[in-house]
Amino acid sequence: MTVADSSALPPASTQTVTRLADYRPPLYRLPSVSLTFWLDRQKTTVEARIRLERDEAVYRPGESLLLHGGKLALESLTLEGEPLMEGRDYRLVPDGLELLNPPVAGELVSRVSIDPSANLELEGLYASGDMLCTQCEAEGFRKITYWLDRPDLLSVYTVKLIASAADYPVLLANGNCIEHGTMPGGQHFAVWHDPFPKPAYLFAVVAGQLVKTADRFTTRSGRTVDLEIWTRAADAAKTGHAMMSLKHSMAWDEQVFGLEYDLDIYMIVAVGDFNMGAMENKGLNVFNTKYVLADPQTATDLDYQGIEAVIAHEYFHNWTGNRVTCRDWFQLSLKEGLTVFRDQQFSADMNSAAVQRIGNVRGLRAVQFPEDAGPTAHPVRPDSYVEINNFYTATVYNKGAEVVRMYHTLLGADGFRRGMDLYFQRHDGQAVTCDDFRAAMADANGVDLSQFGRWYSQAGTPVVRVTDQYDTETKTYTLTMTQSCPPTPGQPVKEPFLIPIAMGLLSADGQTLPTQLTGEATAQAGTRVLRLSDVRQSFTFVNVAEAPIPSLLRGFSAPVKLERAWTDAELATLAAHDSDAFARWEAGQTVLTRVLLADADPASIGPARTDLPETVANLVAATLAPFTGETVGAGADPAFAALCLALPGEAYLAELVPVVYPDRLHAARNALRTAIGRRYADDLLKIIARFTDTGPFQPTAEAAGRRALRNTALDLLVAGGNSAAIALAADQAKAAGNMTDRLAALTALVDTDHPERSAILEAFQADFAEDALVLDKWFTVQALSRRADTLAQVTALLGHPAYDAKNPNKVRALVGSFTTGNRAQFHALDGSGYGFLADQVIATDGFNGKLAARLVAPLAPWKKMDPARQGLMRAELDRIRKTPGLSKDVTEIVEKALA
Ligand code: ARG
Ligand code: ZN
Repeated sequence: MTVADSSALPPASTQTVTRLADYRPPLYRLPSVSLTFWLDRQKTTVEARIRLERDEAVYRPGESLLLHGGKLALESLTLEGEPLMEGRDYRLVPDGLELLNPPVAGELVSRVSIDPSANLELEGLYASGDMLCTQCEAEGFRKITYWLDRPDLLSVYTVKLIASAADYPVLLANGNCIEHGTMPGGQHFAVWHDPFPKPAYLFAVVAGQLVKTADRFTTRSGRTVDLEIWTRAADAAKTGHAMMSLKHSMAWDEQVFGLEYDLDIYMIVAVGDFNMGAMENKGLNVFNTKYVLADPQTATDLDYQGIEAVIAHEYFHNWTGNRVTCRDWFQLSLKEGLTVFRDQQFSADMNSAAVQRIGNVRGLRAVQFPEDAGPTAHPVRPDSYVEINNFYTATVYNKGAEVVRMYHTLLGADGFRRGMDLYFQRHDGQAVTCDDFRAAMADANGVDLSQFGRWYSQAGTPVVRVTDQYDTETKTYTLTMTQSCPPTPGQPVKEPFLIPIAMGLLSADGQTLPTQLTGEATAQAGTRVLRLSDVRQSFTFVNVAEAPIPSLLRGFSAPVKLERAWTDAELATLAAHDSDAFARWEAGQTVLTRVLLADADPASIGPARTDLPETVANLVAATLAPFTGETVGAGADPAFAALCLALPGEAYLAELVPVVYPDRLHAARNALRTAIGRRYADDLLKIIARFTDTGPFQPTAEAAGRRALRNTALDLLVAGGNSAAIALAADQAKAAGNMTDRLAALTALVDTDHPERSAILEAFQADFAEDALVLDKWFTVQALSRRADTLAQVTALLGHPAYDAKNPNKVRALVGSFTTGNRAQFHALDGSGYGFLADQVIATDGFNGKLAARLVAPLAPWKKMDPARQGLMRAELDRIRKTPGLSKDVTEIVEKALA
């Protein structure tokens, strides 16, 4: 399945590339396995009893069988009870162990030992604090035992865990505990059996001093499921929101998709050292503490929302991922895109759908659009990889979710459900492909979705350009759309996509106009979906009473960049009156984007603006008005208003210009914030007074929305230099009763030269010295400061006793926040930010290539930058590339960036 690549990379590369086109089913089935673990922090021994069965339809005579393995010390190996001899029967190779004369069938027993304490890559079996835990997706199981480590090989696992009862009182694995007891010498054991055949990436083991929070869920067919959240004793009081989110998820999946949980127990374990967010191991999810633990004093509204979403995400994987899994890792989006879509729909139902949708789109534009336009751009279903961990990307996850959403848009909620039902009916218990999913959607609805397949195979963000014409004589209105997609690595030319454009028409005074396409018998009232499938296509509407304002891409119905020359008046009408909340927000963002791009244009050298253009003033005034009168205006939503007042992010703005000058984008954005804060100070202060919470903290969407608007007002006022607001921020940073308000105030305050700034930061650190997750926030808030001394501060914080370079949350909180969230300073013209990041990448790569490969990303899009920065970024990429012993994870990203 792997060949040395000779074409796509510089000649110096020795990278091994895995290609989708080379897929072959496994030579052997391993229908069952019994594993015994003698758990120990420094030396864990693993015995695997594996049933081997050759697949004669695949196997070619004379072939050897490669069992994957990495960093394993082999202690013994027998086949049908007979010891195997190295050289004659097997060979140890870099990727594992090769059985030279594999039998038709038989029982293979291996014993290996591993050192969890030395595993800083956090893949396979590793130590987190006093605990031992595993992360096997994508290819971590091979670091536990020799195995055919691929997702299309499904086996039934029985796992016996043996450990010191004092050090590891709790012993967990997938499925049900069928036996446990004590043993001589202070040891004890537990045996777990998972009746569902699963791929190795869903395997999990946890051992440690853990306590559980327990609850129950009764499925709609009346079965009782035990729910258990396992944490350190000190964290047990913070699991309530996670548990509630889990129960909501279980009920939602029954209601919306008819999907019930299938085991009698569902366990979640929170660990402090984790490369990603969480992992959906069958019956035993392992979570980053960040996505489990919350209470009002330590978690923000954003944290509460993140917990709800990730708990749901991992739960939903039980059907979309575990019951139906991926044939190979190229199909990763089959489970991830679909499951992200499902968790987004869930969050929309639990909270405000419009606010959720806007948040999802902001995230997509800030992270996925740049990825799709840069040197590591890849299709939702990639064709090749060097290191699969580099493909757990915004493209696979978030663009993948947009692709699934487009089925939903094209087929409707009922049609989508029919497709899901057929998908499970056909594929339950199988490992399948994105094409299988698309076929289920098409067949269940009797439609042809072959062109839709290009969303999986072609990278890049399509651009849709719209022109239109109204004919007063015939009362017809014609929209003409053209689509194109920029070249991406390996894909110079693109074929047209099938793009659903959800739309409607408005009159000049903002009324909804009915829509009737040529050839249709009657007009429609609400949003309709146009299907753009050609490079250029026209849609003509008849009986259009007046020249309409088109509202296009409602709900962000496709992951494209849509361009049309709306007038300022049209945008104001859309922002005020469109029936679709997303479109209202989008119209306002377009107004803001125009001003920001004009201000940042390098051709318009001049002092930073101090005034507000009328378009922006009108927009801000209209947004604030419902909240500044005697009573709050009917239907006014504070959460939505907060989003309307949030200026487009610098990463998104950078996507819209041909050459990026990060300092100019930053300055333009700051100047506009400041101008808004000055001009609307009175209104913003009224909002602060109106939305100051007095009762106990509620993590509801409504309460969070009030806090969001209030803290947005505070941010704008502080940006405007308002002294009352700065004093308020200082008080709130010291004494707010909840973390949302406290952190928002601290975030505003760290940009200022307030005399108490350092004292307040220090007090915050002292208040939360024992709370790792809050300390992460404390590092982040300093890394994001707009003050000019931030890099010096960040560098100093690397030496703070609470910082831990081995802990991914800490590295992301300090280094990652600075390099991705503080664009102006990361891109400082003296190259200091680039040098800092390269140093951190090289240091991190020495022990955790997976984490290092994620850190390096901000250096990759150097070709988009102005000439001075290009050279500086390139030089740092070169320096990383030349580091001896670089991981293949970082090598892949850096070589793609330099190609
Ligand atoms: N499947 C996990 C999820 O739900 C992500 C695990 C990825 N882990 C990794 N090392 N690549 O999103
Ligand atoms: Zn996932």
